[in-house]
Parts: sequence; C-alpha cells; structure tokens
Amino acid sequence: MRDEESIPASSIAATLLDWYDRHARVLPWRIPPGDTRMPDPYRVWLSEVMLQQTTVAAVKDYFHRFTERWPTVSDLAAAEDAAVMGEWAGLGYYARARNLLKCARVVTDDHGGRFPDTHDALLALPGIGPYTAAAISAIAFNRPETVMDGNVERVMARLYDIHTPLPAAKPELRAHAAALTPDRRPGDYAQAVMDLGATICTPKSPACGICPLRAPCTARRQGTAALLPRKSPKKPKPTRQGIIYLVRRVDGAWLLERRPDKGLLGGMLGWPGSEWGEAPTEAPPLDAEWTTLPAQVRHTFTHFHLVLTVRTAVVAADARPTTGSFLGIDAFRPSDLPTVMRKAFDLWRGA
Ligand code: ADE
Repeated sequence: MRDEESIPASSIAATLLDWYDRHARVLPWRIPPGDTRMPDPYRVWLSEVMLQQTTVAAVKDYFHRFTERWPTVSDLAAAEDAAVMGEWAGLGYYARARNLLKCARVVTDDHGGRFPDTHDALLALPGIGPYTAAAISAIAFNRPETVMDGNVERVMARLYDIHTPLPAAKPELRAHAAALTPDRRPGDYAQAVMDLGATICTPKSPACGICPLRAPCTARRQGTAALLPRKSPKKPKPTRQGIIYLVRRVDGAWLLERRPDKGLLGGMLGWPGSEWGEAPTEAPPLDAEWTTLPAQVRHTFTHFHLVLTVRTAVVAADARPTTGSFLGIDAFRPSDLPTVMRKAFDLWRGA
C-alpha cells in the first residue's frame, strides 16, 4: 500500500485545484476557475470584509446591494456615512463598516482609486488585517499568500491530525497551510481550501467519503476527523441589562440617536437608553407617560448576552428630548437599525 504520509505538498495542492475546477461554488464576487479574467479587487475586498465572522448565505444580499449602489471603490468613498451604516445594518460587527468607509477613502484619495497589490501595502489600509491582506493578495492578485480562516484551520487540523486545541494550535496549522500553498494558481487554491472546509470538511459530520483529500488525510485514517479541531473551553458570557425608550411623536416621527463612533454599535442609529450593566439606572430622554412592553429584547454579542427592557411613549408635537432627534416616517427605515435595535421595534410592532 502507498504510504499516505509521503504524498508531497504539490500533489495535495494539485488534487485540490482539480477538485475546485469541478466543484467551485458559484459566488457573486468570484471569477470561476478556467475564466481568464482577473477579479475586481474592490469586489474581493468588499466580500472578504463582509465574510469576516459572517456566513456566505448572509453576505450575498448585502454584497449585491452594496455593489449595485456603489459599483466602484470611489463611489463608496463618496457615499454619506449614514447611507453606508444603514446598508450594513443587520450584518453586525459595525467597526467593519466604519473601517470600510475609511479604507475606501484612503484607496481613492491616496492610491488613485486602485487597491495596492502587495500584502504589506494592503495591511497598511484601515480595517485590513493579516487575514484580509492575504486573501486580497491571493484572490485578486494571484500572489502565493497563506490565507488562514476557520475553514483552513479545520482542514489542516484534520489533514495532519493535530490535537492541540485552538487557539494554541494556530502557529502549527499555519505552518502546514504555508507548506501546501502553491506558486501556481494561489488565488484559486486559497478559495479551494475554503470551499472544501465549507462544503465537505464541515465542522460536524464531515463528508470524508467524497473528499478529494481522503487519501492523504491522517484524521480520516485515525477516525478522529469529526473531533477536530479541538478548542480550549470558552469563558461563559455574562448577561447585562439595559432599558431603552421608544418615543413616537403624534405625527409618527421616532426619536433616534446616532451612537458615538467608538464602541459597540458605533456609528449606528439606535433608541436612546440607559447604560448596559448589572442594574441599569433609568435614563429617559424626556418626561412622558411610559408603558413597558411585556416582553424583553434578548441579543447576544461576542462577549456578553444583553436583555433590554423596552419602554414606550407617545409625545406631543412640541416635545423636546434631551438626546437624539425625531426622524419623520419618510426618513425612518427599520432596516437601517442594527439587529438589537430592530428587535425592539419588532416587539413594539407586535405588541
Ligand atoms: N469565506 C471567506 N472568504 C471566502 C471566499 N473568498 N470564498 C469562499 N468562502 C469564503
């Protein structure tokens, strides 16, 4: 029998590229294998920023709306901040949207509207970290960069049967991924590993029987694929409480405020409210007769769960709030709200 351990890196990459030629996912930002056009770096960048911590399924509609409304990086650079934050609403991790705009403006103002084509120059742009710089250099400029995301980590952990838990295993997984990265078609190769991780080498119940890398895969041989990668236990998330105030004027306008740029939900529209903590103090934006909705908003952020009590009031046309401003019904789009604030609106609507 052939010794699988001896299968060279070049053969693994070639096998994966061959599989990608037949099974690449059709994605709106992707140039299919075999097509000789180069991808548009703007679309690659936009998709990679959107795909950080967000699934392909959730990103597709956002990607279509952004590229219809702002077809080039210079169009995006010229957009109003509020319009971009509104289109991003619902995708989460709003610092990405603020950095997206900053980056579009730097590319437009300092680079003549063209993305730089080297890893280091990309890394210097706002919001572009090591992952995104590597992904753009590989996919848009076909440079042999090692692109590490959760999919790639999982594929490497299984291929080499690595039992060290994440995140400690990262350097070892990266070294394996780097050794496999080919000089030929590195952009397609980076996307091939991601597609393998998303469609075959999945977190649960991997489809090892149809995997193009089943021969060289050590975890498959050991029967450990579904257990990998191991992960160090996560700290339990604390729960914070808050109070928000949904104020509607008699003419139908809503009281909203734009949150400060720094911090959670920075730059997004939201309902005025208290601090979030263990026992929040009331912070009504004006004097009114408040009604408390029977249900609370529950939302989970990266580091904590949030439970919001929702108080509502209808106020007169001459009401003067201490914070925020009234948005007329023609200017208020519930879809501009981040998900946690949208949940409060939906509760009010259903109440
Ligand atoms: N996830 C993140 N980037 C991706 C890409 N370019 N193709 C497929 N899945 C991805």
